[in-house]
Amino acid sequence: MIERVAPSNVSVLITGESGTGKELVARTLHELSPRRGKPFVPVNCAAIPETLIESEIFGHEKGAFTGALERRAGCFELAEEGTLLLDEIGEMPVGTQAKLLRVLEDRKLRRLGSKVETPMNVRVLAATNKNPEEAVSSGHLRGDLYYRLNVFNLHMPPLREHKEDIPAIIEALLADMNTKHGREVKGVDGEMLGRLMAHDWPGNVRELRNTIERAVILCGEGYMETRHLPPAFGQRFLRAEVSTNNYSDSGVHVEIGSTVDEAERMLILKTLESTRNNKTRAAEILGISLKTLHNKLKEYGSTTASETLEERPVV
Ligand SMILES: Nc1ncnc2c1ncn2[C@@H]1O[C@H](COP(=O)(O)OP(=O)(O)OP(=O)(O)O)[C@@H](O)[C@H]1O
Ligand SMILES: [Mg+2]
Repeated sequence: MIERVAPSNVSVLITGESGTGKELVARTLHELSPRRGKPFVPVNCAAIPETLIESEIFGHEKGAFTGALERRAGCFELAEEGTLLLDEIGEMPVGTQAKLLRVLEDRKLRRLGSKVETPMNVRVLAATNKNPEEAVSSGHLRGDLYYRLNVFNLHMPPLREHKEDIPAIIEALLADMNTKHGREVKGVDGEMLGRLMAHDWPGNVRELRNTIERAVILCGEGYMETRHLPPAFGQRFLRAEVSTNNYSDSGVHVEIGSTVDEAERMLILKTLESTRNNKTRAAEILGISLKTLHNKLKEYGSTTASETLEERPVV
């Protein structure tokens, strides 16, 4: 599919959970298109404060707003003749989405504070780890922009739904990692492969990549073995089995003698695990703000649930 849509100029909406390779797909679309050799500009809409996003995307003239001391090119201009990836499109403020739609329809761009419109030649790709239809019905994504971007949809399935690809992906990762770390690892032995195949991979290919990178560094040469996996990998593997086969695992057991902080920590990490590390959803379930959740996780010294859980015995 990637090879077939790459050469055309159409917009592609890339969907899929975190770590499934959406950005890699976008880069590949660019590399396989006549625009290769021109800029590929990824913009993470979730990472830019709302007050700055329009200037970031469309650019601004000197004096366009307080603090606009110099004229500045936006991402569209930086991507001229190339490809722009609007990542986490559902996080873009709805007002900005309206402006974006106009630019896409007219193929003309106007910097903030400028009266002049200039033609633009940019291929626009968008990505989201949310369900775009749900984002439209909840009002986070404008329907008209969604239809404009979704000329073509490439959906990246979670790794747990295509485990048969794990050996091939490992082979690709291994070549990379051997070069990156100057190692000569040949592959994984049967037992370790069994463990990898049984794992649920909530972090998708990113998690597999990190696991293989760690093992390549530890192993050095020959074949990677189970002992090159993180110490708690087996526990996580057991827990994944328990939670898919037995719904009674969906609670938290708190011993008398635990502190409120410990109980809170367990509940937060368990909830994150149940949402497969979807923080927005976990914050909703817990009835706290996303910001509070981020702060708690920072306190625990980790940004993902599984990493933090690894350091603790199974609850
Ligand atoms: N099929 C694959 N083969 C090799 N590496 C892959 C593959 N898919 C993803 N990766 C690697 O996994 C990591 C995560 O991929 P990427 O950043 O594209 O995910 P994403 O879907 O954009 O995640 P997020 O939603 O968190 O931004 C990257 O290091 C990428 O190179
Ligand atoms: Mg990404």
